[in-house]
Amino acid sequence: MYTEKVMEHFSNPRNVGEIENASGVGTVGNAKCGDIMKVYLQIEDGIIKDAKFKTFGCGAAVATSSMATELIIGKSVEDALKITNKMVAEELGGLPPVKMHCSLLAEESLHAALWDYAEKNNIVIDGLEQPKDDIDHHEHIHDEVMNG
Ligand code: FES
Repeated sequence: MYTEKVMEHFSNPRNVGEIENASGVGTVGNAKCGDIMKVYLQIEDGIIKDAKFKTFGCGAAVATSSMATELIIGKSVEDALKITNKMVAEELGGLPPVKMHCSLLAEESLHAALWDYAEKNNIVIDGLEQPKDDIDHHEHIHDEVMNG
């Protein structure tokens, strides 16, 4: 059901933990399954220097967060914003369709952390929409779930 890469990131997730005095912190949950994700970002001069996450979530949520943090470290805020849950899933060699919504937790909590960073610094990040604190309210999710 899961690719080797998903299993590898699940068994050995990268960037688990917290960042003290993080530039931005975002927490997003999924009321349907009860899973929660928290992302911490350290941003300097518009570049994501470090990213960490903590999750109370399923294996797909752990693996996608691990991959998402790997992908955004070293990127500018604008480039990190372009990374979608589909891209993260592709990097992992794919996810079972019923698990695609789990990857939204990583995307949305990253956006929530960027939103927090923007608010703290009184800046506007182009293309960043105010994130929902529950992905169940996310418009895309209904399609993903129904197709799954
Ligand atoms: Fe809840 Fe995967 S089942 S995030």
